[in-house]
Amino acid sequence: QSGRFTYDPGFTSTASCESKITYIDGDEGVLLHRGYPIEQLSEQSSFMEVAYLLLRGELPTPDEHDDFVRTISRHTMVHEQLAMFYRGFRRDAHPMAIMCGVVGALSAFYHDSTDINDPAQRLIASHRLIAKMPTIAAMAYKYAVGQPFLYPDNSLSYTGNFLRMTFGVPAEQYEVNPVVEKALDRIFILHADHEQNASTSTVRLAGSSGANPFACMAAGIACLWGPAHGGANEAALNMLREIGRPERIPEFIARAKDKNDPFRLMGFGHRVYKNYDPRATVMQKTVREVLSALGVDDPVFEVALRLEELALSDDYFAEKKLFPNVDFYSGIILSAIGFPTTMFTVLFALARTVGWVAQWNEMIEDPEQKIGRPRQLYTGATTRDYIPLDKR
Ligand code: SDX
Repeated sequence: QSGRFTYDPGFTSTASCESKITYIDGDEGVLLHRGYPIEQLSEQSSFMEVAYLLLRGELPTPDEHDDFVRTISRHTMVHEQLAMFYRGFRRDAHPMAIMCGVVGALSAFYHDSTDINDPAQRLIASHRLIAKMPTIAAMAYKYAVGQPFLYPDNSLSYTGNFLRMTFGVPAEQYEVNPVVEKALDRIFILHADHEQNASTSTVRLAGSSGANPFACMAAGIACLWGPAHGGANEAALNMLREIGRPERIPEFIARAKDKNDPFRLMGFGHRVYKNYDPRATVMQKTVREVLSALGVDDPVFEVALRLEELALSDDYFAEKKLFPNVDFYSGIILSAIGFPTTMFTVLFALARTVGWVAQWNEMIEDPEQKIGRPRQLYTGATTRDYIPLDKR
């Protein structure tokens, strides 16, 4: 066509990468971390053990596990000056906006001591990021609700520490509920890594320029926030609450099928899974466990189950291979635990930090690594001469 360059399909994109960390078979609904099925890890492992596995490639021995947990716990506090960053935000700032700002600000504290070409310094930066995310996330929640920040208590587990920093108050002793702790730890496992999704690719692309890992994680957080990605867990619960009762489901399914309506069923569909997201299966089971253990009877869960049943029996969703994904049920559990919807993607970012850090390390360690440069197909104007303003 006039004005178009001819397109030479001969080039190979620099946008793909090799990795040993996570394998997904979208057609079969398979998700493996270093070869271990997500169903087994979410039932039998812990988030700290999965973090070790993603980073080091093997399950830890008991001593390796305890040493890793001890190392992470040594980095859970943040610099006192970092707390000042929160005071610059309005109290009603979205916690993901705070996470973008505060995690990026970590660069100012550790940039000079993080030579990414030094494996020892890379490891310390990795431990700092994994350790500080729960503290920063809990502080974002505390700031929003006007309660004082709590320091970490390293006698607790990684997830128990986060729960206490989030829901504890100085005036009272906080008891970690073991059912909640286990459910949240499992949710963190389900969100830990997922191959080259948009936010992980963002972290890799930012890291490929040699940027410090703290700034790279802030880039990943920004990308994760989008409702098409990690922001879907917040959007999914808001959608389920808007539907309100099973009788209104057909109205929303009709909207999702209407090409003239931008509405999509939040928590449904996936770039890769054209079968059931194995994480959604575990998540649905966990909803039942948590709601019954906490004695919570949330009508939204019935709406979610009925919506899934009606959507999966509808030809539109069958033809387009749209199934519930990791974000469809997670919000029901997080809401039952006491998190506001605005914190859901913050928890996703907290968990995904171990995947981002593992993928960032894998990329930096690759001696063949070059700066990322995704190719484009140019469809603009061909060369033409400038026309002076008085001639136009
Ligand atoms: C995550 O990549 C990852 O791994 C991400 C993630 C991770 O762990 O990092 O798994 C986390 O981001 C999960 C996805 C969360 N997002 C949502 O739940 C938002 C709702 N879902 C959609 O926006 C959508 O399904 C996407 C963004 C997830 C995928 O979008 P695509 O790639 O455009 O979907 P597709 O190409 O498979 O769509 C095929 C068709 C399209 O219609 P046609 O153009 O063929 O007519 O299905 C339609 C889409 O319009 N479609 C939907 C739909 N999702 C896709 N229609 C209604 N509701 C939906 N949810």
